[in-house]
Amino acid sequence: MSALPRACVIGAGSSGIAAAKVLHERGIPFDCFELSDRVGGNWVWNNSNGVSSSYRSLHINTSRSRMEYSDFPMPEHLPNFARHDQIAAYFDAYVDHFGFRDRIAFTTGVEHVAPRDGGGFDVRLSTGETRRYDAVLVANGHHWDPRMPEPAFPGAETFTGRQMHSHDYKEESQLVGKKVVVLGMGNSAMDIAVDASYHAKETYLAHRRGVHIIPKYVFGRPYDAIAGREWIPAAVRWRLARPLMRAATGPMSRYGLKDPDHRFAEAHPTMSSRILDRLAHGAITPKPNIDHFDGPDVVFTDGTRVAADLVVYCTGYKISFPFFDTDFLDPSGDNQVRLYQRMFHPTVAGLYFIGLVQPLGAIMPIAERQSELAADHLQGRYALPGLDRMNAEIDRHRSALAKRYVASKRHTIQVDFDDYMRALRKERAAGAKRTGGMTVTPRAAVGRPL
Ligand SMILES: Cc1cc2nc3c(=O)[nH]c(=O)nc-3n(C[C@H](O)[C@H](O)[C@H](O)COP(=O)(O)OP(=O)(O)OC[C@H]3O[C@@H](n4cnc5c(N)ncnc54)[C@H](O)[C@@H]3O)c2cc1C
Ligand SMILES: NC(=O)c1ccc[n+]([C@@H]2O[C@H](COP(=O)([O-])OP(=O)(O)OC[C@H]3O[C@@H](n4cnc5c(N)ncnc54)[C@H](OP(=O)(O)O)[C@@H]3O)[C@@H](O)[C@H]2O)c1
Repeated sequence: MSALPRACVIGAGSSGIAAAKVLHERGIPFDCFELSDRVGGNWVWNNSNGVSSSYRSLHINTSRSRMEYSDFPMPEHLPNFARHDQIAAYFDAYVDHFGFRDRIAFTTGVEHVAPRDGGGFDVRLSTGETRRYDAVLVANGHHWDPRMPEPAFPGAETFTGRQMHSHDYKEESQLVGKKVVVLGMGNSAMDIAVDASYHAKETYLAHRRGVHIIPKYVFGRPYDAIAGREWIPAAVRWRLARPLMRAATGPMSRYGLKDPDHRFAEAHPTMSSRILDRLAHGAITPKPNIDHFDGPDVVFTDGTRVAADLVVYCTGYKISFPFFDTDFLDPSGDNQVRLYQRMFHPTVAGLYFIGLVQPLGAIMPIAERQSELAADHLQGRYALPGLDRMNAEIDRHRSALAKRYVASKRHTIQVDFDDYMRALRKERAAGAKRTGGMTVTPRAAVGRPL
């Protein structure tokens, strides 16, 4: 039996494959379980897992050089903002390049995970089998469980048009010939409103709050290439970026939208060059928030109304872990999870969360670095601090988030890409020091040996 802990990775999306690759390279025994018949998660359009939120027109909004894994560059021929199928093919190629496809059990869901009293976990699979692991790396994604408006708008139950969440939007044919109201100002709303502006009969963009819309290119370069370096502190980066973004688009009210009630980088970024163009062309009509429904009409807070055929709620996603008992972990209400360094469960040893962050930047290099840290822990090269210090770090992070970001359930797991990458690197070194020079055996390093 291996002296190293045995790990279970839940999911083979871009976060799960980053974790599986690191464990594979380090010789840590593991199984990776994936609901789908292939890797790539969200990036597989019409994925057989039934939970991908992608649509035919989806392109990345984090430029490819900021999104690639550190040791596997994206092909040079890809555009800076590649399409979903090009990105899914890149993840496929990653798995083959590093040779761990045979470690992934496809079409196998994790149905239940129960931490055991003496340490370790019982993991029940969709095959009916229950396996025991020392560690679990959760990488089930956090953009698949739709968050509908809460509470529902008055009259929603008797509205005669159709209501759907952006998660169920797959292609333009769903919009053709319809009067469509799109609600929200995140990236889903931008893309779906633009698609609707070409295919629907009429398109309305309803919003309760203004945002700073960032064009994908600024000064001929991808917007995220500007001041995106690990050594540049966030305060400097945003001070540089704010005037550039203001100069690039001007006030949002010039496009008929609400002006934001916050500064740039105090909300998750909304990137779209095309929306401004379509607004300027009159192909999209801006509206304030929905107030209520009245039979066939959507009535907005300014009293105007539209007899709509379809309302698309682009109102974001819930963090969900259907395989944990709700009395153990259930973030669905407030979208909050208490994790040390955004990845370690502070009281259950051997429970890691990979990619459970909403970066101002891309998730993939973060998932890779988190996985390195988890692997260090599993190998006894990294030790966690005491519970008091972990709790203090979590509280500090939460209060910094609350101070900086617009109060919204979409801002509970925000990180600045470069600052968080730097923090993980520093944490790795600090945790290595805490081991006191490899005095722990690897299994004990997880916390509670079996
Ligand atoms: C429309 C859209 C566009 C986006 N664009 C970008 C972008 O441009 N750049 C960016 O960085 N991020 C973007 N994101 C964020 C997105 O979360 C990441 O790109 C990426 O998909 C995260 O990968 P993941 O592996 O964490 O999650 P996912 O891609 O969701 O993968 C999770 C995997 O886990 C599997 N799984 C889930 N539950 C189980 C279970 N119980 N048992 C077994 N397997 C399970 C799923 O089948 C899936 O394959 C976007 C999100 C959306 C919704
Ligand atoms: N690659 C791409 O181009 C692309 C495309 C789509 C999505 N994505 C990514 O996918 C993730 C999810 O994006 P998303 O746009 O689906 O969700 P999101 O970023 O969570 O945005 C949700 C939007 O809905 C609004 N909203 C929520 N509840 C509401 C309510 N009850 N009434 C009115 N408005 C409400 C929010 O407003 P408040 O701010 O006021 O809460 C916000 O504008 C993000 O990481 C995003 O970057 C990327």
